[in-house]
Amino acid sequence: MSIQTSSIIAGTMNWGVWGKSFNQAEIQQLIATCLEEKICSFDHADIYGGYTTEADFGKAWAAMNVDRESVQFITKCGIKYVCDKKEYGIKHYDYSKKYIISNVEDSLKNLKTEYIDVLLLHRPSPLMQTEVIADAITELKISGKIVHFGLSNFTPAQTDLIRKFTAVTYNQIQFSATHLQPMVNGELDYMQLHGIKPMAWNPLGSIYKEEVPQTIRLKELLKKLTLKYNLPEDILLLAWILKHPAQIKPVVGTTSVERIKTLQKLENFELDLEDWFAIWTESIGTKIP
Ligand SMILES: NC(=O)c1ccc[n+]([C@@H]2O[C@H](COP(=O)([O-])OP(=O)(O)OC[C@H]3O[C@@H](n4cnc5c(N)ncnc54)[C@H](OP(=O)(O)O)[C@@H]3O)[C@@H](O)[C@H]2O)c1
Repeated sequence: MSIQTSSIIAGTMNWGVWGKSFNQAEIQQLIATCLEEKICSFDHADIYGGYTTEADFGKAWAAMNVDRESVQFITKCGIKYVCDKKEYGIKHYDYSKKYIISNVEDSLKNLKTEYIDVLLLHRPSPLMQTEVIADAITELKISGKIVHFGLSNFTPAQTDLIRKFTAVTYNQIQFSATHLQPMVNGELDYMQLHGIKPMAWNPLGSIYKEEVPQTIRLKELLKKLTLKYNLPEDILLLAWILKHPAQIKPVVGTTSVERIKTLQKLENFELDLEDWFAIWTESIGTKIP
């Protein structure tokens, strides 16, 4: 089975108690809006909402009668996060075979599904053993519990380590107009070279989070560009990511039905070349090299 994720992915991190604490009807409204806008891939992690958001989503989605094959569920494993539901002494990572498999089995129950479309290792651990991970992934694929396997926040060297024994299809990384490193440190080039599909988390960067010289400069520019293109700022920031040839899939974190509806404006839209470079220039605050 081969699965395609949608070109925009809906991030669910803030749908539950880490964010808006949506009730079942509100989650269903968000899912339905995403599907209307052809956003069919949903990004989860076991830890979101202190291990509660996958289950909130699963309950809501299962009651909607949507064809399972028309949606894709991405989830992540490996972080042991201290919260009410778990009594870990400290936040840590566990990539033992037993934990990876039990983590996936919990996600299957929570999401009320027979399979996970894409399983990601949430963050690299210095203690991870590539053969142990490969063994777990092979078993999960053979049993049909996962379809594709990928990573999140892994460097090219860490990715090579994992690729030694098992195929890696995705790497979900932090990338935006305010977090440019993957574009200049070889990460995105590496992924293009090896056919690894990048997903970008926090695709709007710190624009709405911080008022610092970088975001002030970018907002000034975005003000002009919104007039030129008659498009909102968040659409221009996503278009900036989509113009990169690595075919990056932004994982959008909005919890707003209106903003999800606006995402359709990205279809058939491309930023002019000079405007793309203008965003890079304002991000770094100086002429590009
Ligand atoms: N792999 C990882 O390690 C990792 C880490 C973090 C996150 N993630 C994934 O990435 C997803 C997205 O991350 P993110 O939430 O940082 O994404 P984001 O899309 O960059 O940011 C979303 C935030 O920006 C706000 N926003 C959007 N448009 C706005 C506007 N025009 N004006 C003001 N505020 C605006 C949203 O508010 P509204 O809700 O009001 O629209 C929301 O709070 C998460 O849901 C999660 O699935 C993965």
